[in-house]
Amino acid sequence: MRKINIAIDGPSGVGKSSISNRLAEHNHMTHLDTGAMYRCVALAIRQNDVALDDEMALQRLLDTIRISFDGPVVYLNGNDVTEAIKVNEISNFTSKIATIPMVRERMVALQQKATEPKNFIVDGRDIGTTVLPDAEVKIFLSASPKARAERRYNEYVEKGIESDYETIYQDIVARDYQDTHRKVSPLRKADDAIEVDTSDLTIDEVEEVVQDIIDKAL
Ligand code: DC
Repeated sequence: MRKINIAIDGPSGVGKSSISNRLAEHNHMTHLDTGAMYRCVALAIRQNDVALDDEMALQRLLDTIRISFDGPVVYLNGNDVTEAIKVNEISNFTSKIATIPMVRERMVALQQKATEPKNFIVDGRDIGTTVLPDAEVKIFLSASPKARAERRYNEYVEKGIESDYETIYQDIVARDYQDTHRKVSPLRKADDAIEVDTSDLTIDEVEEVVQDIIDKAL
């Protein structure tokens, strides 16, 4: 079968990671979670106390940072940071540092290089528009902020993590705003991407719809 790259874009909490993992497994492809890469940069900035207006220090950090994956496990400079990059504080900070052009340029270059051999499912915000404008399949997943907040809230409840629905909802709305209004590579559906509204679909149904799109493209 020919090797292709698949771009999966969409807002926070729409289920890109879960869907991409499932599709990668089903189609024997590798999942590249670009959100995790930005999250690693955010964590590294925090760990090293780099001021965001200190361009030299930021450049140095970007030059030396090592991000790697082993399935769903994320490593930053050799340390497992899978859970550390998911905490709320880092999520909010990531949205902020993802607006810095120097950070984006570096991440885009890394993502393009990593996916050159093809056979990747790449999920993010700017994959279809900027990272892989020539991707053979482009999907844009969407869901209302309410649907996404409910999913996240239920996920927390299931895990026994104390949380507040209203805070989750407001965080999602704020992050959407930041992601769609930044100057560099804002979250935007590529003109040739196929939009799948997942608000009223289960994860199995979303997988089915997207798999169908992939099968037609192959
Ligand atoms: O997909 P995620 O929630 O793990 O992404 C974390 C943050 O990184 C989110 O604020 C958007 C940003 N991001 C981005 O700007 N570009 C990407 N390709 C992926 C994520």
